[in-house]
Amino acid sequence: MRPLQLHSLYYYNIITTTTLQLNKMRKKIVAGNWKMNLDYNEGLSLFSEIINMIKDEVTGKQEAVICSPFIHLHSLAQLARGYHKLALGAQNAHQAESGAYTGEVSAKMIKSVGAAYVILGHSERRQYFHESNELLAKKTDTALNNDLKPIFCIGETLEEREANKYFDIIKNQLVEGVFHLDETQFSQLVIAYEPVWAIGTGKTATAGQAQEIHAFIRNEIAAKYNQQVADNTTILYGGSCNPKNAPELFAQPDIDGGLIGGASLKSRDFVDILKVFN
Ligand code: PGA
Repeated sequence: MRPLQLHSLYYYNIITTTTLQLNKMRKKIVAGNWKMNLDYNEGLSLFSEIINMIKDEVTGKQEAVICSPFIHLHSLAQLARGYHKLALGAQNAHQAESGAYTGEVSAKMIKSVGAAYVILGHSERRQYFHESNELLAKKTDTALNNDLKPIFCIGETLEEREANKYFDIIKNQLVEGVFHLDETQFSQLVIAYEPVWAIGTGKTATAGQAQEIHAFIRNEIAAKYNQQVADNTTILYGGSCNPKNAPELFAQPDIDGGLIGGASLKSRDFVDILKVFN
């Protein structure tokens, strides 16, 4: 090989290679959020279809996560045994370890049936169940204490975007929700940026809009912790993501996958989104 003559080019190459290596290190994830859909049998058959398609079609190192209703989790975990490309998650967990909280489900219970992840702070939980950043900070602690990886959701409403407040809102969600964690704890998290105006509306953020926020989030993580932690954090995009728009979104340097609602209820669509990382 011809020796490099320009120092700046040499350093550029080192930096680029390092960045690429770090990019490779962070996990690409496509997580399906089934929300309150599918009865037990419907859930099992959708999951079986997804497993078969993954076996036949997924060739990369990306991970699929299915966040099902609690009811389904145990059986899905049994079906998923032995498939390292497929993990399970819950959509919520209580902040207390256990106790007199009728109707609630604890992080320990979720972990005990074989789930690895839990979605926390989804905008539907924030909106309909009044979950505050303060409460979500507690839920995050309890999930981590029980060895569950939170998929921590943040994102602005349409009003906040139009009022140009979205950077502040997102920063505040990070500061109050997860920046109390130490570096080791924070490294267990997946962050999902989900602009509320794009969820279930068919309106996707453009790849440019999403990349702008993802880069902002990564910079905030670097400022709070350090560049290595930031470079290793998987940041998902969510909000009307589908097989058509996923390739452009996932090609952005700071978008490491998606949190998929509607399209995760169709095996073909979900696996096609997953295959963007093949
Ligand atoms: P959507 O939902 O893909 O249906 O917009 C995303 C989400 O709520 O996680």
